[in-house]
Amino acid sequence: MNENEDFPRSLEEIRTIVRESLPEKYDRMANTWTHISGGCETGSTWRRSIEAFEGLGFVQKGINPVVQEKVDLSVNILGTKWELPIGIAPMSGVIASVCKNTFGEMATAVGNKNIAASVGYPAGPEIHKKMVETGAAVFRIVKPIKDIEKIKEALKSAQEAGCFAAGIDTDSVAGLKAGDNVNYKDTCDPISMDVLKEIRESIEIPFIIKGVLSEEDARASMELGADAIVVSTHGGSALDYSPSSLEVLPDIVRVVDHKMKVLFDSGIRRGSDIVKALALGADAVLIGRMALWGLVLGQAKGLEWILELLADEMRRILVLLGAEKIGDLDRKALVPLNHIGDRILKP
Ligand SMILES: Cc1cc2nc3c(=O)[nH]c(=O)nc-3n(C[C@H](O)[C@H](O)[C@H](O)COP(=O)(O)O)c2cc1C
Repeated sequence: MNENEDFPRSLEEIRTIVRESLPEKYDRMANTWTHISGGCETGSTWRRSIEAFEGLGFVQKGINPVVQEKVDLSVNILGTKWELPIGIAPMSGVIASVCKNTFGEMATAVGNKNIAASVGYPAGPEIHKKMVETGAAVFRIVKPIKDIEKIKEALKSAQEAGCFAAGIDTDSVAGLKAGDNVNYKDTCDPISMDVLKEIRESIEIPFIIKGVLSEEDARASMELGADAIVVSTHGGSALDYSPSSLEVLPDIVRVVDHKMKVLFDSGIRRGSDIVKALALGADAVLIGRMALWGLVLGQAKGLEWILELLADEMRRILVLLGAEKIGDLDRKALVPLNHIGDRILKP
């Protein structure tokens, strides 16, 4: 499947194709990517990450002067301009082999669409260098591994490779889970504030803390000198029974008060999900599984297709909301549709 016109528009169809075309050896991981199963333990957080979006509806305002061709979806994040408010979430492990030259294909798509991509640990500096060379805006997120000097080294190498930002996913400190399988249990450790400060000071480029779900962690991120946070449940793989990213977003946005960029991820499947997160104050979102599906579907072209689908959906929604640019969105565009929505939109 290589031509755009052959790619399916329906998410169900896309998921089915991905599930069927992944090699057998990735079967367990493929399950979590394609939502046949997903997240850790009971899957509560993972399910809630998807379901929370159902709690919010839009206030339609069809009588307005906004035309689709004029809708501007671009955002400015830490000195880089993204044509869409979407970045590719950091992913590592077996994703390197979901298609031939995964990171090269990802960089090509991201360079063509002028957005940003990130890479997780342990992908090495060679990968970052190659991605940056395509003109893509790249940032690196390192795991909280036990060897602090190795973390600093990894962040430094990202800076040297031309990444515009780098950081740590602090939700991996107790390992991550897919179902009942624990990954990174023996390689990661909690990091104290003092050490986090020291790590932050080891690079000059903007610093990101990924995996923030509480006001406390948002405040701590500001205190240690972070320039951005990612409000994220790690796609439901970190702490089962944590609320979804969407449920905690408004309180975190309030605490941050524009002093850091707020990125959002976990559970994004449609343009409407992105518009809801932005209306609640996120500066941009990251997509994990949807990006993987695109790569499996048709390498760079498949990922570009997914980005186009999301952008088309967002443009159409913005027209119906009477918003010409991302900055025009705010929580007045949203109404609660159930008890989760009530909590999210509480005054
Ligand atoms: C296969 C896979 C590998 C991942 N690897 C990493 C990683 O190395 N570092 C990290 O911070 N997050 C990692 N994540 C989490 C993503 O960055 C992101 O938080 C999550 O996928 C967002 O949820 P979504 O997949 O529903 O969009 C990974 C996710 C997947 C699906």
